[in-house]
Parts: sequence; structure tokens; C-alpha cells
Amino acid sequence: MILIDGKKAAAELREELKKEVSELKTKYNKVPGLTVILIGDMAPSQIYVRNKEKSANEVGLKSEVIKYPEAVEEKTILDKIEELNNDETVSGILVQLPLPKHIDKQKVIEAIAPSKDVDGFHPMNVGNLSSGYESSVPCTPLGCYLMIKKIEPNLNGKKAVMVGRSNLNGKPMAQLLLKENCTVTITHSKTKDLKAECLEADIIVAAVGIPELVKADWVKKDAIVIDVGINKTDKGIVGDVAFEEVSKVAKALTPVPGGVGPMTIACLLKNTIECFKRSQR
Ligand code: GUN
Repeated sequence: MILIDGKKAAAELREELKKEVSELKTKYNKVPGLTVILIGDMAPSQIYVRNKEKSANEVGLKSEVIKYPEAVEEKTILDKIEELNNDETVSGILVQLPLPKHIDKQKVIEAIAPSKDVDGFHPMNVGNLSSGYESSVPCTPLGCYLMIKKIEPNLNGKKAVMVGRSNLNGKPMAQLLLKENCTVTITHSKTKDLKAECLEADIIVAAVGIPELVKADWVKKDAIVIDVGINKTDKGIVGDVAFEEVSKVAKALTPVPGGVGPMTIACLLKNTIECFKRSQR
């Protein structure tokens, strides 16, 4: 079984990106900039944002975090986004989710210029991805995709099953694999026989937030299994895949933690650099 080392893959990707940033600096005499907006003081968001900032600095990006208190007005955020949209030194804008209840998430996402939308959440980018046009791609599925391609460069005709249909993961992941000529099934809570669907899969991507849902007898021998889940349980953090038992049947499997997580952040940096390059054309 191949244990997919997300930490190592992310470190390798960061090395490539660092080189690219240095080349861009020589060519344009400036570096891509990432601005993150963080609202409130939720611990997980604080940790994510700190990691993003650290990684951005490591590859040589210009990085800025703008913090607001939980009670900040929606208009203050929308005005700041407008200002950042017009700031030439800002290549990418990310508003850390979740947002406080009084702020309309969709309004915020749509306020970000599609050309600076490093999350790939803007409807323009969602549409472009599904039409097969150039777009920002959400960081988590992009990271999963790169790890799958490393294991199996030719995905032609493979059966891929998404467990979960979220806008963050299941849907964009399906689009990426469809582009690679996979036959894609998106399952969800109303799917009649989830186990039977998974048993058909050459590739399973689990992103539903149910601890250890995908069992060994759901997985075809030699399938590639990607676990996007991060679930807090009595025995610590576990994924959506029963790691121990599935590791005995899968060809390749991502651990939790140390699998998808590190690649997500590296892909955010990649998206920032892509936005910068497109802005220079
Ligand atoms: N919160 C957790 N994951 C994400 C992400 O990928 N993007 C944003 N903006 N917020 C998040």
C-alpha cells in the first residue's frame, strides 16, 4: 500500500513555487501578494490563517492578514474587498470561512474580483471550471487531484466516486476528474446504496464529515482512496475513512492528519501565483 505523504508532497510543491516566485520577481520586479481577511477569534480559523501566512512567506509571496472583530459590519468587509480588488499589489484575496451569522457569505464571495478569487468560490470561477475554461480551482480538491495524478498519471476511463456533494469539495473534485476522462459519480446522504457505489470505484474521495464512514468492505482491491475528513472524536482527529482496515485493501491512501491538509495550503499559494501570472498577461 502506498501511504500518500501529503506533508512531503506539499513541501515539494512549495519548493517548486518558491523557485517560480523568484523567477517572477526577476521578470516583473515584484512578487505575487496574498491578502487574507479573518473575522472573529475562532480557534481553528486562527490556526489555518497562521499556517497560510507562514507558508506564503516561506515561498516568498507578499502576505497580509487583515483581522476584524466578530461584530464587524458586513459593509466594512465589502468595502475592504472593493479596496483590495483595486490594489495592484494584491494578487489573491481569501476571506476565511465560516463567517459570523450576520454576514452574508455569498455576498462576500461575489464581492471578490473573480481574477483574485484564490478560493475558486466565485460563481464565475465555478462556472468556468464546469465549462472546462481557465479558472481558479478550490484548493482542497486541487490538492487531492495533484496527489491522485502522482499515483496514477493516466485517469482515462477510471471510475471515481465522490462521497459528499459540497461546493468546497465534492462538486469541484468531480469536475477535475471529469476533465481527466473519469466516469464520475457524486454520492450524498440520500444515495440509496453508498457501499455498492463505493465498491465500483477505482478512486474514492471522501469528504462528508462522518468519522470513519468508508470501511474496508466498501473499497475495491487496489483503489486509490483520498480522505478529506477532519473529525474530532474521543480517540482524537480521524478522517472519513477507517484508515487501518482500508489500508489493507487500497492501493494508495491518504492519512489524517498529514494527507490532504498540507496540500490544501500549498495549493492556495499555487492559486495566488496563477492569479498573479494571469494579471500580467
Ligand atoms: N475555511 C476552511 N477551509 C477554507 C477554505 O478552503 N477557504 C476559506 N476561505 N475558508 C476556509
